[in-house]
Order: sequence, then C-alpha cells, then structure tokens
Amino acid sequence: MNTASTSASTAPSLTQDELKALVGQAALAYVRPNTIIGVGTGSTVNHFITALGTMKDQIKGAVSSSVASTQRLQALGIPVFDANEVESLDVYIDGADEIDSQGYMVKGGGAALTREKIVAAQATQFICIVDESKLVTALGRFPLPVEVIPMATQRIARQFAALGGEARVRQKDGQPLVTDNGQHILDVTGLHITDPLAFESLVNQWPGVVTVGVFAHQKAQVCLMGTATGVKTIPY
Ligand code: 5RP
Repeated sequence: MNTASTSASTAPSLTQDELKALVGQAALAYVRPNTIIGVGTGSTVNHFITALGTMKDQIKGAVSSSVASTQRLQALGIPVFDANEVESLDVYIDGADEIDSQGYMVKGGGAALTREKIVAAQATQFICIVDESKLVTALGRFPLPVEVIPMATQRIARQFAALGGEARVRQKDGQPLVTDNGQHILDVTGLHITDPLAFESLVNQWPGVVTVGVFAHQKAQVCLMGTATGVKTIPY
C-alpha cells in the first residue's frame, strides 16, 4: 500500500461513526464545482451527503445509487438526476464493506450493490470512504453480497457451495429482503477471494446473478481511510 498523505490531526479516541464522519467530510475535496457527482449508499455516505449539503449551491446535482440516498439528497435540496440523463461523472463517492491493498472492494452490505456498480461505471474516479476496520489482506471476511433473481437462488447457492461458500438469503422482517430493483440478496460466507478480477468475472456470468458484490473491475482509485491518526489518503 502506498500511503500518500496523512492529515496532521490525531484522533486517538474517535468512535467508528466519528471516523466515518471524518472521511465523509474529507471527500468534499474531490467534489468539483459545477459538476454532477455519483453518490453511494450507507452510513459513511450519509455523513458525506450531510457534508455535501454545505456546498449544494456549488454543484449541479447528483446521480444516486439508492432510494435511501436519493431521499437524503433531495431532503437537502440537492437535485438528483436519473443515470440515463448523464453521460459521465468525474467522481463517484461511496463506502465499502472491505477494501484490500489494491483498492479491490466488497460492497453491498446496504443491498445497493447493483446501482452502486452502475453509477461507479459512469465515473472516471471511484473515491472510497471507509474507517480502518474495513481494511483486509484478502477479500472474504465480510459475507459477500450477491443480488440474484429469486428463481435462481438455490442454483446459485449450490454454485457457491462448490467453491466452499455458504449462501443465505438476506432477510428483513422475517421475509427475504427485496432490493430497490425487486430482487433478492444472497450473503455468502466462507470465501477467500485471492483473485478478485477473475472471481468477479466468473460469478457475474452465472445465470440469475444480477450483480456480485466484488468491485474489482471498478475498483477504487483513491481510498480515504479514517484512522486513529487521522484521514489517510491512499491512491491505487
Ligand atoms: C451499500 C454498501 C456500503 O457502501 C457498505 O455496506 C458500507 O456501508 P457503511 O458505510 O454503512 O459501513 O455497499 O450497499
């Protein structure tokens, strides 16, 4: 890992949520005036959206990766564009469930992985904002989210079992969680993903997989990592 810079401040006793707030604020440095930016989903991004509210008059608006983020953006008066209305974005800012030393990530803990991948694909730069608990040596510690077409769930679960994984359908209120796209999420434990690019390509072509939560083909270009010694800027 090549750590380019560390902020001067020390923050020895910050909570995880405070670290998330710190990187959410730091991400404003990547928002250029008069642009439309891509916005991810999750508790870290929620801090970023709050911070973005302070410069809402300087940007044109956002393309959002979830209904939840859209509602937050709009509540602050930030215009939200449909992804189809925007040809490209120069930055996409989002959190992650895991990130490794190459900038490869696992995402989807908030079930928004498909739209996150779509918006990330429109952006030139992916800025990942995380607290340091998300740093891993190899992807696979966090249960891997995979958005699936419900009729293919059991078949896909068997395919993961053949790779040593155990897949469970994510539940909400005692029922399978339904994503913003009307699909289900499998959370897969027991995987050790040594080649994220090959793994993402493999799983993506299984019938019924909408999106696998490995972000390797669309990895981060920069990670802003909240640590006990401040925000580290890590380029890849
Ligand atoms: C949502 C995501 C989030 O970026 C990921 O789950 C991290 O969330 P948080 O910032 O709440 O820790 O991928 O689908």
